[in-house]
Amino acid sequence: MTALTTKSPIRLLQITDTHLYGNPVGTLLKMNTQNSFGHVINSLKQNNDYYDLILATGDIAQDASPEAYEYFKSIMKDLGAPFRWIPGNHDVLETMQEVAEGTDACEKLVQINNWQILFLDTSVLGQVHGNLTQEELEFLEQSLQAAQADESVSHCIICLHHNPVKGNAGWMKDIGLNNGVQFFKIVSKFEKLRCIIYGHIHQDLDFIYEGIRCLCTPSTCIQFKPYVTDFTLDKENPGYRTFQLAEDGTIDTEVVRVTGFKFEADFTSEGY
Ligand SMILES: [Fe+2]
Repeated sequence: MTALTTKSPIRLLQITDTHLYGNPVGTLLKMNTQNSFGHVINSLKQNNDYYDLILATGDIAQDASPEAYEYFKSIMKDLGAPFRWIPGNHDVLETMQEVAEGTDACEKLVQINNWQILFLDTSVLGQVHGNLTQEELEFLEQSLQAAQADESVSHCIICLHHNPVKGNAGWMKDIGLNNGVQFFKIVSKFEKLRCIIYGHIHQDLDFIYEGIRCLCTPSTCIQFKPYVTDFTLDKENPGYRTFQLAEDGTIDTEVVRVTGFKFEADFTSEGY
């Protein structure tokens, strides 16, 4: 585990579901994902902020190619902040580990001041839905237990790719974390847990479930329309999320979307 010390409030950035291809012309439902990611990064740079850590919450690559992961890594290097990444349903952890060799990108626990951040792998190779294996559930419970007993930790955050709470669109009912009930049974026991952060369903959500704040963040490419029955793309622009974590446990968070640019995508598509 890395322990970092920084000035308060801690500043985090979440980037999720970049769906990059090894080939820079690769498109997802007709949107060039490298190009939309570039717009997101430019918008970030315009805001001229610094970040203590970047949380990359999965679906980094659409084709799981080393080139796509290398590209993502080069953009992170350019941003100049450390990052951690976890796999989504389109990723292959082994390839991510190979590309991350010599870095801390795959590390699963980071402490910054009095906050601890946990990173979980919910990916199931070749499947859209997520699952926490027995090993991952044990890691989760043991880490939270240790944090609960550790006086230097006051607050915890959990990052994962899949939505642990059922998605709000009809077509999403089987694509989330399939053992979300088990997940909440564990996490709800720990009073230091402040929020759960994820991606996967490509939309901005901020709600309380089982007494815990849940935050979902827009993708840097296509957006999924909430509260519909069938698969529908949203015309909202790509974006990212920022966090300011105060020493007393307060979380200030904001979703920032790209402005001043109209993105092309196949808005009539019935699936992805
Ligand atoms: Fe995704």
